[in-house]
Amino acid sequence: MCGIVGYFGKREAKDILMNGLFRLEYRGYDSAGIALFCDGDINVTKAQGRLKELEIKLNCENRGSIGIGHTRWATHGKPSDENSHPHMGCEGTFCVVHNGIIENYMELKEALQEKGCDFLSETDTEVIPNLLEVYNTGDFLETVQKVVSMLEGAYALCVLSKEFPEEMIVVRKASPLVVGKCDGEYFVASDIPAILEYTKDVYILEEDEVAHIKNKTIAFYNGEGNAIDKEITEITWDLESAEKQGYPHFMLKEIHEQPEAVEKTLAGRIKDGTVQLDLNLTDDFIKSIDKVAVVACGTASYAGRVGGNFIEKYLRIPVEAEFASEFRYNDPIITDKTLVIVVSQSGETADTLAGLREAKSKGAKIVAITNVVGSSIARESDEVIYTQAGPEIAVASTKAYVTQLIALYLLVLQLGKIRGAIDAAFEKSWIEALIKLPEQITSILEQSDIMEVYAAGLKDYTSAFFIGRGVDNVSSLEGALKLKEISYIHAEAYAAGELKHGTLALITDDVPVIGIATQKHLLEKSISNIIEVKARGAITYGIGFEGEGQLRRTVDHFYPIPDALEDFAPILTVVPLQLLAYYASLLKGNDVDKPRNLAKSVTVE
Ligand code: M6R
Repeated sequence: MCGIVGYFGKREAKDILMNGLFRLEYRGYDSAGIALFCDGDINVTKAQGRLKELEIKLNCENRGSIGIGHTRWATHGKPSDENSHPHMGCEGTFCVVHNGIIENYMELKEALQEKGCDFLSETDTEVIPNLLEVYNTGDFLETVQKVVSMLEGAYALCVLSKEFPEEMIVVRKASPLVVGKCDGEYFVASDIPAILEYTKDVYILEEDEVAHIKNKTIAFYNGEGNAIDKEITEITWDLESAEKQGYPHFMLKEIHEQPEAVEKTLAGRIKDGTVQLDLNLTDDFIKSIDKVAVVACGTASYAGRVGGNFIEKYLRIPVEAEFASEFRYNDPIITDKTLVIVVSQSGETADTLAGLREAKSKGAKIVAITNVVGSSIARESDEVIYTQAGPEIAVASTKAYVTQLIALYLLVLQLGKIRGAIDAAFEKSWIEALIKLPEQITSILEQSDIMEVYAAGLKDYTSAFFIGRGVDNVSSLEGALKLKEISYIHAEAYAAGELKHGTLALITDDVPVIGIATQKHLLEKSISNIIEVKARGAITYGIGFEGEGQLRRTVDHFYPIPDALEDFAPILTVVPLQLLAYYASLLKGNDVDKPRNLAKSVTVE
């Protein structure tokens, strides 16, 4: 996904911008560029491909202490030098980097072409510097505000102008942007890690806000153009925690961080043997909830489905768990008695944010589960439960998922207590199980070599099936997504009982099947389904509790998870599935942390 950096100060901007862009590499990109103010001119260098290509093009003439940079992930127009940012207007006066999408760019482009503007790229972005040139009033801020009022869509912008050499303007609309400050220097970034080595003091721009840096001072304006005061937020995590710490890949590091992430997510939320989530929702509202909707994408949506399963099972509230990209367009049935649980690691996923807004506009109360403080989803929700996973860099989500599940277990307990749906004995049993998880996850990590061996057996297949029932079916979905995402092996997750309604036709000795069976009341049924696929020649792998013998005897290869309350199986089964995907990807020689075609944070629809 696109990334923005900007620098305004006294040092060589090129070095700071390139450093920042390298820090944003993990987001995924296909081209990059920087623009520097030098001797009254704006000097733009861009290159398709990795940042190394851009570095090769830069030389000692690329000087200046004010500049902007960008990594692009193509949305309008193919990856190419021309389509890379920064973009200049055709008069060569204004220069822009942009994250997001300008939805009305076609009509703006046509109008600009009629006025004689020549376009060099296929991007939506290029309309912005051209509009700035056409509507230039001679006042930088006024010009930007005027043009922004003409743009529809979601965007973050960083703008330079040859006419205003001691100024920089940044704008945030539905796409994250922060401005860091340190000793008269300003650092702009779409992601905090890009500037963390320079400053921990940042201004987090809110929706529609504009920051104007001029002669070493900064001023902020709201969407109506009025000057506003903003407070500095101090970032408490350091760069080291965003780096690999000796692991070969971020994904492996993040898998191994799960015991600690679980501990941190539980910390302070269990007091005197009871869950104490201070929810900003009244007891009256909680008792009146007649429907829960879970809104999320990808892995986060599977965490939400597990939580939804327990809400139905123990709280007896109907749950609708849909991908946010469907939910937002399905005219969902939402009332002021609906609780919407929004789950998102980044807190910036475009579809999830849109689903949140749709639900909110219909009167629902929103509880967000997110990992990023100050993210859009956090700010727009009625209540936020932060996961304490720390920065997750690998595109494949691991520790974020597990901590989302922890947050959901806590939420189920808190809501259940207020509604009188669960008693003290139930709460005690869940809390005991939650507290044991870090140690149990550690014991799974200690036997990673089993999954490495299984991955070696799987890596040369082109297709695999993951089957399960109930919450094990959700774990299958997550296991299959993980395998597809980074090993590029086609993997299909299927409700085990549905196989014989058509899909069984695909099972041959060329299609291994991974069966997850942890739920006692479904065990016999799940094992029958595994026997069915075995009979069609499939090699079978089983994941089940250590003390359970039937599954172990049925499958060709068994992976034991520590014995626990079966409600906690989704956490214990997903860790070996993450390892399986990791090793399959590694053994195939793939780029584990940055799988092809994917980005960490999907901030466009
Ligand atoms: O940041 P979010 O949790 O909102 O992201 C949602 C999905 O894009 C994300 O979980 C995606 O499915 C992961 N790459 C899966 O590993």
